[in-house]
Amino acid sequence: MGRKPAGRLGYLIDPTDLVRASTCDAGQSLEPLTIALADASATTRVGSAIASELRAGMVVTLEGDLGAGKTTLVRGALRALGVEGAIKSPTFALVEHYPLSSIYFYHIDFYRFAESAEWETSGLADCFRADSVCFVEWPERVAGMLPPADLSLALSFASTDGAGRTLAVRANSESGERCVSAIAAAFSYPQLPD
Ligand SMILES: Nc1ncnc2c1ncn2[C@@H]1O[C@H](COP(=O)(O)OP(=O)(O)O)[C@@H](O)[C@H]1O
Ligand SMILES: [Mg+2]
Repeated sequence: MGRKPAGRLGYLIDPTDLVRASTCDAGQSLEPLTIALADASATTRVGSAIASELRAGMVVTLEGDLGAGKTTLVRGALRALGVEGAIKSPTFALVEHYPLSSIYFYHIDFYRFAESAEWETSGLADCFRADSVCFVEWPERVAGMLPPADLSLALSFASTDGAGRTLAVRANSESGERCVSAIAAAFSYPQLPD
């Protein structure tokens, strides 16, 4: 398989990077963009690719088993936004908060939620505001409670020996679609002239 146009995204796809290219329609991916991430730096690169497209009010969900690379991807976004020093996983604190210049950035991990009723008691619902961006690990723990995600990311292990990951990306809004385009651009060849 050689290079080919990839639907509305219009990028020429390197099949070693993009397993399957998505087509986007009216802010919604018909099928996910699927990308092979060979190592942790590739996962970081996904985060840095979407950093400049993040806008107040956005929700980004990250699904995937323990060790799939969810926190690595969020670190990539935070580093690209200028956060220095240690970036902790919120697995135990449930939420880490980064007051950036233009937005409140919340990195939330619902892994330790035993039941969705904790959504009410934890106060984490207060993170989801018009002036914040929320990155959410283990969104399935609070299914039905979370506001709709603008961008849904799902990481899975590419092989049983733990090397490499596969990322599936789905946009559910126009701001999410801009993130999908940024990821596609970071993992594809530059667009060729018509
Ligand atoms: N694409 C990748 N290939 C191989 N290892 C990766 C990849 N992405 C992340 N990792 C590694 O996986 C480990 C777990 O990552 P982490 O982000 O903590 O996972 P999670 O938050 O999903 O539990 C880290 O050691 C990280 O460097
Ligand atoms: Mg994590």
